[in-house]
Amino acid sequence: MPPQPLPPTSFPKGEIKILLLENIHVSANELLDAEGFQVERVSGSLPEDQLVERIRDAHVIGIRSKTRLTPRVLDEARRLLAVGCFCIGTNQVALTHANGLGIPVFNAPFSNTRSVAELMLAEIVVLSRQLFDRSREVHEGTWKKLAVGAHEVRGKTLGIVGYGHIGRQVGVLAEFFGLRVLFYDIAARLPMGNNRAVPSLDELLAESDYVTLHVPETPQTAGMIGAAELARMKAGAMLLNASRGTVVDLDALAASLRDGHLAGAAVDVYPEEPVSNSDGFRSPLRGLANVVLTPHIGGSTEEAQEAIGREVSASLVKLVNSGATTGAVNFPEIELPQAPGTHRILNVHRNVPGVMRDITRIISDKDANIHAQMLATDPDIGYLIVDLDRAVSHEVKDAISALSTSIRTRILY
Ligand code: NAI
Repeated sequence: MPPQPLPPTSFPKGEIKILLLENIHVSANELLDAEGFQVERVSGSLPEDQLVERIRDAHVIGIRSKTRLTPRVLDEARRLLAVGCFCIGTNQVALTHANGLGIPVFNAPFSNTRSVAELMLAEIVVLSRQLFDRSREVHEGTWKKLAVGAHEVRGKTLGIVGYGHIGRQVGVLAEFFGLRVLFYDIAARLPMGNNRAVPSLDELLAESDYVTLHVPETPQTAGMIGAAELARMKAGAMLLNASRGTVVDLDALAASLRDGHLAGAAVDVYPEEPVSNSDGFRSPLRGLANVVLTPHIGGSTEEAQEAIGREVSASLVKLVNSGATTGAVNFPEIELPQAPGTHRILNVHRNVPGVMRDITRIISDKDANIHAQMLATDPDIGYLIVDLDRAVSHEVKDAISALSTSIRTRILY
């Protein structure tokens, strides 16, 4: 049976209830408080039964990675306008179910871009000076002062695989160090500064002293760097991976480091990562010389957390105030400035034939003048924004809301 339409919703801002779980950074409060919303904070995540109770009243819920928004929880969230994941991943939310209920889910995929980029630059220097090995030796009481195998990075070539948000930042920062920067991407990307695109991964591997990976996890990037690719890298080159663990064959990397073809590596992500800090960690890379291993902390900085708080709360405020869904991970994306002197109707409906015909009929029957309108769809739902004359907007909203195809309808004054 299709979901029953929910009652239409429209509130004064002071009645909008925002529930923030899991110690979300206080930066999230700046925008939400300024809007006059009621913001309630809970320090941890909540088990399902408690969550069901708490979410019933909430118009917006903010979570991080530990709160599970299951179909059961979302079904109880009859007032929920949006979910904010104050993190990067969104697999803790039943995204398709939320879509079917007309609830957009937001995250902050790029708030930690700079944090990752800075770490890469640091690691390039650390590897070039074998810094961690020297430091460990001195900690252990061994004084091994030597210049052999230690290098400046100036004038060397850095190859960036995946020239997206992070890759580009790495490319910009690397030039300040005097590195020559090449990049390879499957999409055409505008080069930053003096960065230069190369036509193939092979060319990048053959020319680079350092190769850093910044691709997403896709079927094409799984095992992208294996024994054959490592063999194509220059003797003495170094590999950095802070993208996804599936991209590099770690056994092949360990073999290449052990036989001395590669001179170092920095790895932040692994095919299997411990779930909690108390779980142990196994890897063929453990104990190898000049190999920096970090526990997936590339994007983990206080600045990134603060930026995430700002970015996600900004998306939530825009959704509540204007219906904008730009950046939603599970929803048709629309952003439309509200036409002056109008009321705005926001309608989420099942994407079946005839819906727009019915809505257009309602609007023309009421003699309503449309000042602005935008529709976006995905295979399951359509999301419509219409700015109308104020005189008839309530009647139009009520009639649209009563359509059997409507999932959620709201009016903004
Ligand atoms: P992005 O989506 O902005 O950029 C990815 C780039 O890779 C795009 O330009 C895309 O065209 C390119 N690409 C995709 N497939 C490719 C292929 N087969 N060959 C070459 N290029 C390809 O992503 P962003 O934000 O730069 O993130 C990159 C990676 O970093 C992601 O895997 C992400 O999960 C990871 N990441 C890791 C963090 C950490 O803590 N270690 C923190 C943040 C992101």
